[in-house]
Amino acid sequence: MRLLVTGGAGFIGANFVHQTVADRPEVGVVVLDALTYAGNRASLDSIADRIEFVRGDVADQELVDRLVGGVDAVVHFAAESHNDNSLAQPFPFVQTNIVGTFALLEAVRRHDVRYHHISTDEVYGDLDAHEPPFTPNTPYNPSSPYSASKASSDLLVRAWVRSFGVRATISNCSNNYGPYQHVEKFIPRQITNLIDGVRPRLYGAGHQVRDWIHVHDHNRAVWTILEHGRIGQTYLIGANDELDNKSVIELILAEFGRDADDFDHVTDRPGHDQRYAIDASLLRTELGWEPRFADFRAGLSATIRWYREHEDWWRPNKAVTESTYLTAGEKVL
Ligand code: NAD
Ligand code: TYD
Repeated sequence: MRLLVTGGAGFIGANFVHQTVADRPEVGVVVLDALTYAGNRASLDSIADRIEFVRGDVADQELVDRLVGGVDAVVHFAAESHNDNSLAQPFPFVQTNIVGTFALLEAVRRHDVRYHHISTDEVYGDLDAHEPPFTPNTPYNPSSPYSASKASSDLLVRAWVRSFGVRATISNCSNNYGPYQHVEKFIPRQITNLIDGVRPRLYGAGHQVRDWIHVHDHNRAVWTILEHGRIGQTYLIGANDELDNKSVIELILAEFGRDADDFDHVTDRPGHDQRYAIDASLLRTELGWEPRFADFRAGLSATIRWYREHEDWWRPNKAVTESTYLTAGEKVL
């Protein structure tokens, strides 16, 4: 089997490529990645001789058509993925997430190639504290340019299945954590701040809730869906690990031996989604998937260890990321 992995130099995609090379040596992996600020070729250094790497844009129709013509399946991770960036500059989100998905769908349609679309639970908007978790039937209600662009791309996939018979599945996953995540994101930002002796930064009061899943569990679910999922079906992926942001910061501080209140409250995100929660029962009952990182604290502790041991990987992005937050107007409250 030959597999095209878009966004394979990003956080989840790189972990997916490592997992695939390790567990499925018979699969030939081609990575297509534009190496934006979020992509890091170094994430694939240790397996560089076991994959084919193509630097390019998923919205480049000619390139995408040629690559798709040479594979049996596509897993599409590539995206602009950070909410805060989408508020500052929405255009790349429309271009990569919507036009890029369109280019891939046209190519898989032409070549009749199996396609799996990676999406997010954020397409469903947010929940209040007492609402039941999202299911595949929850109406789409995205809040930010990021989630709206992902929702748009999901709708294109659904239409290409229905109108053109494209063999596609979709997965909408909750917040991931683990190795190789960019330091702009919540958990790596706080870990690397603490390594640098800087206080963690909590948006607003920090009562927002996220449903955390280890990236390796997400990627095992993706393989399960790719192999056994029903064409046209949407699967939700989550590990039932709901925590508010303040509690996550307190756990990270405890790992560093610091006081629970040793952090700063900073400017809140406009339109900040309150709570995400996933009902992954379809994936569990129909496809038999279960998360292996059941204990968030243990997974977090291993992730902190990874960042301590891989400073060479994240250091080049740290200063510029923090200065982007400052330029965007982030202030200690
Ligand atoms: P990331 O930002 O770490 O990586 C994105 C990758 O895509 C980077 O390597 C980047 O270079 C590449 N890329 C960006 N634009 C491109 C383009 N035009 N052409 C080719 N490559 C391009 O993102 P991530 O966190 O790994 O997310 C991967 C996917 O998973 C995204 O589709 C995202 O919406 C989805 N997702 C993420 C989370 C999460 O918690 N991070 C949760 C659910 C779903
Ligand atoms: P993030 O990692 O950006 O993921 P998402 O917006 O997709 O949920 O943020 C996770 C949560 O953490 C979100 O509620 C915003 C919050 N947050 C902070 O409190 N401080 C930070 O420095 C960052 C980056 C995020």
